Amino acid sequence: AHRLVVLVSGTGSNLAALLDAHDDPAFGARVVGVVSDRAGVAALDRAREAGVPTAVVALRDFPDRDAWDRALTEAVAVFSPDTVVLAGFMKLVGAPFLARFGGRTVNTHPALLPSFPGAHGVRDALAYGVKVTGCSVIVVDAGVDDGPVVAQEAVAVADDDDESSLHERIKVVERRLLVDVVGRIARDGLTVDGRRARLGRPAAD
Ligand code: GAR
Repeated sequence: AHRLVVLVSGTGSNLAALLDAHDDPAFGARVVGVVSDRAGVAALDRAREAGVPTAVVALRDFPDRDAWDRALTEAVAVFSPDTVVLAGFMKLVGAPFLARFGGRTVNTHPALLPSFPGAHGVRDALAYGVKVTGCSVIVVDAGVDDGPVVAQEAVAVADDDDESSLHERIKVVERRLLVDVVGRIARDGLTVDGRRARLGRPAAD
């Protein structure tokens, strides 16, 4: 099966959805490793419970960001991924990582990019006052949440939403979208042509 390595920083509910999906052979992909930039997070427990090997590569254990990024790249490379999934991974990956895994790393984000990139996509959408937000799966590139969009889904903002109620509603949609997209990448491939990404293999010509 297509090998997935999932990068996490926190709760790991998106990871849990991928772990649930990978028991179904029809999904076409397996989570073969989980790498966190933080020790002691719930996402690591979820991986261990599923019997998936984990690694922690914390920024503070390295002299600088570049050394951390190289160690992260190595920790991911150990698992020989076909696709890397950033699922609530709250750090930017750097040039060494992208040199190795660029074009086959996707990130899930709780807003309709290019609106509301960064660490507070839900809070920023609420503060702006938009009536519709949602979630995006993108191909990771060197910018902050600005890689080619693979898939998006909309979620309506309710008048009485706060950050946590809205984020929980987005996450229900987000988990389903991420599992769907990752399965389709595993089975059908991902084609990136400039800013345009689509599911499926490049047309043969
Ligand atoms: C998800 O909503 C994900 O989109 C978001 O963090 C949450 C992680 O939840 N990521 C970002 O905001 C990245 N910019 P989880 O740990 O339960 O999967």
